[in-house]
Amino acid sequence: MKLLRLAPPCSQPLLLFITVSLMFTFSSSSYNVTYDKKSLIIDGHRKLIISAAIHYPRSVPAMWPGVVQLAKEGGADAIETYVFWNGHELSPDNYYFGGRYDLVKFCKIVQQAGMYLILRIGPFVAAEWNFGGVPVWLHYVPGTVFRTDSEPFKHHMQKFMTYIVNLMKQERLFGSQGGPIILAQVENEYGFYENAYGEGGKRYASWAAKMALSQNTGVPWIMCEQFDAPDPVIDTCNSFYCDQFKPINPNKPKIWTENWPGWFKTFGSRDPHRPPEDVAFSVARFFQKGGSLHNYYMYHGGTNFGRTAGGPFITTSYDYDAPIDEYGLARLPKWGHLKELHRAIKLSEHALLNSESTLVSLGHLQEADVYEDASGSCAAFISNMDDKSDKVVEFRNRSYTVPAWSVSILPDCKNVVFNTAKVSSATSEVEMVSSGLQPSPISLVKDLKTQWGVFTEHAGIWGNADLSHNGFVDHINTTKDTTDYLWYTTSFQVNEKEDFLTNGSNAYLLVESKGHALHAFINQKLQASGSGNGTVPPFKFRRPISVKAGMNEIALLSMTVGLQNAGSFYEWIGAGPTSVKIEGLKNGTIDLSSSTWTSKIGLQGEHLRIYKADGIQNVNWTSTSEPPKLQPLTWYKAVIDAPPGNEPVGLDMIHMGKGLAWLNGEEIGRYWPRKSSEHEECVQHCDYRGKFSPNKCSTGCGEPTQRWYHVPRSWFKPSGNVLVIFEEKGGDPTKIRLARRTQKRMS
Ligand SMILES: *[C@@H]1O[C@H](CO)[C@@H](O)[C@H](O)[C@H]1NC(C)=O
Ligand SMILES: *[C@@H]1O[C@H](CO)[C@@H](O)[C@H](O)[C@H]1NC(C)=O
Ligand SMILES: *[C@@H]1O[C@H](CO)[C@@H](O)[C@H](O)[C@H]1NC(C)=O
Ligand SMILES: *[C@@H]1O[C@H](CO)[C@@H](O)[C@H](O)[C@H]1NC(C)=O
Ligand SMILES: *[C@@H]1O[C@H](CO)[C@@H](O)[C@H](O)[C@H]1NC(C)=O
Ligand SMILES: *[C@@H]1O[C@H](CO)[C@@H](O)[C@H](O)[C@H]1NC(C)=O
Repeated sequence: MKLLRLAPPCSQPLLLFITVSLMFTFSSSSYNVTYDKKSLIIDGHRKLIISAAIHYPRSVPAMWPGVVQLAKEGGADAIETYVFWNGHELSPDNYYFGGRYDLVKFCKIVQQAGMYLILRIGPFVAAEWNFGGVPVWLHYVPGTVFRTDSEPFKHHMQKFMTYIVNLMKQERLFGSQGGPIILAQVENEYGFYENAYGEGGKRYASWAAKMALSQNTGVPWIMCEQFDAPDPVIDTCNSFYCDQFKPINPNKPKIWTENWPGWFKTFGSRDPHRPPEDVAFSVARFFQKGGSLHNYYMYHGGTNFGRTAGGPFITTSYDYDAPIDEYGLARLPKWGHLKELHRAIKLSEHALLNSESTLVSLGHLQEADVYEDASGSCAAFISNMDDKSDKVVEFRNRSYTVPAWSVSILPDCKNVVFNTAKVSSATSEVEMVSSGLQPSPISLVKDLKTQWGVFTEHAGIWGNADLSHNGFVDHINTTKDTTDYLWYTTSFQVNEKEDFLTNGSNAYLLVESKGHALHAFINQKLQASGSGNGTVPPFKFRRPISVKAGMNEIALLSMTVGLQNAGSFYEWIGAGPTSVKIEGLKNGTIDLSSSTWTSKIGLQGEHLRIYKADGIQNVNWTSTSEPPKLQPLTWYKAVIDAPPGNEPVGLDMIHMGKGLAWLNGEEIGRYWPRKSSEHEECVQHCDYRGKFSPNKCSTGCGEPTQRWYHVPRSWFKPSGNVLVIFEEKGGDPTKIRLARRTQKRMS
């Protein structure tokens, strides 16, 4: 590191940066990872680490090398990921590590990039991921209570933890074996919930730490937001700001496991943005106040493919307004601004890690922290926490203008090489450029229109019913999350003497449900839909319906939209209807709540796997170039060509209702162009100054939360791609578009 100080920091930034990067490229010889109160100590050297969270199943193997490399170019030394238990242990002892779940391949890509890896095994992860990452089957192992002193939970948790650790050891991936892993995490943000579990919670937290330590990985363990983490486990911080964080034990380094550079979205919400100036401010403040390891959660958020989104209502996109966008492109200027920040911090590394800070007050809300080490190297961070006014401060006989809510970094205690509020990096214009679906030559008919295959589901029980029950069974207990969909059907009599109006009757349907969404069909016709909103699953509605004299069939299609992923006892929260009534008939209200309801789990098309190559022939698709519009419960398929070029691709579903989509059998995920309320607050220009909260800088009021759905390029063949859509309530498939995500750089 001495080399670095020979040249003045400003003169040759590029060369210096390359030197820094090379120093973090390690050989495959084994090294020790320990720590002291300043930082992690790797092979005897204190290290300052910038880490970038990238979750392997939220992108695809073909994207991994690119996003990892882009994180490295952005100045990251480490990649951080959770391990997604429910993606790996599909049923007890039945493990899966293929495709997007090829954890070892991901780790090796990080290793080949010459980066470190932080493995947050959990195995509970929250993460806006279905059921918080815990397999749904575990909820049905008798006697299991998640995340407390529950024998079956601990048994399966330890078994999985051990399995992953052994896999990593086998592949020589721990630092102690020459691999990239320098840290591992057990549990996740348990401190917030521990009290809710009483003494069992305390015993569990302590057990989890001991169990992790007994794995002998040769690298330290962390527990984030764990206020009683036992020695030698390091407790770490997750927040928008962690400058004030202090580990419970003063001999532990100050680690920030989750700095949220944006936020996630739920269907029906606005689009949150965190300004790059504020992200940079928070990071600079953290290092100013003695932090030594910082991780962006997320650096690349990616996509909740298939039904992996947590919830309820988390969108399929997990873009997170992160420095690398959902599609794998650098988000500018955020990515570039943070890259410059990282360079400035690295220029200060030696002084930061080898001296104690001296605090110098420079005004009411202005202060400098000065790090001067024995060798004479000196770095200073000057901050102005005033959220309105820029300030001129005197520091070491020079004056510095420090913009409001910003930090200036002086790696030589004289020259400002970076200020968090001055964004000078390139910006870009990103566009989704749409084109109609390009029919594959093999699917063309005379009129050159796309030839569609159409298959319509019966509204209600298909095949044999799964169960009949007086009153409502819980939705999740019944599907066990093998599908989003559960039918509840029954029938009711209407008197001949009712007044039947031309457009129906005076009847109303009243539904109350624990969530998450529901479509009501009467006599095969869609009559009403309802859903929870925000993160509140329960809902009720009262809608006019048409009924006929005599027997009427009612079929409710109840849906989950991602299972709860956090909270105490979250696995016990149910879903599905609780009360159904018909009102407004002359004969009075008919309460169907305790009628005999017959149920069917899932859709026929799901059961027959008609979205997969091996199942697509299982139904007779009606072939047409004019597919029905606004028709509920309809499967559509089209054979299309890949869009030209190599830009990332998004499926434009703005003219569709709600459902699921696949390409070549790969799960694109849930689509639902549900709009956010236009009455919420959105901003034209975001004022970066002052404390950030998720709703501070939103856009997209009154617009669909998610219009485009990422379809990874690697899923396309040049020609003959099969797109399959299941539409629940009705849309216009002829208006589905594929859009290329184009990025024009500007300076
Ligand atoms: C790791 O550190 C310990 C304690 O400092 C030391 O005894 C051991 O030799 C080191 N191992 C390696 C591989 O450097
Ligand atoms: C600042 O100026 C004063 C007076 O000229 C001088 O005594 C002091 O050493 C200077 N401080 C620094 C840090 O240069
Ligand atoms: C109407 O109400 C009467 C009296 O409660 C009952 O006997 C009859 O079965 C009801 N008819 C229908 C169609 O619900
Ligand atoms: C959610 O639904 C409730 C009741 O229908 C409504 O009052 C509230 O405004 C909705 N919230 C949002 C964020 O749409
Ligand atoms: C699901 O079933 C279990 C076991 O029968 C029961 O304890 C639990 O209360 C049910 N959950 C809901 C939400 O009904
Ligand atoms: C498709 O239609 C053919 C001819 O009508 C019939 O024999 C076959 O059983 C049908 N297949 C399915 C899966 O419904």
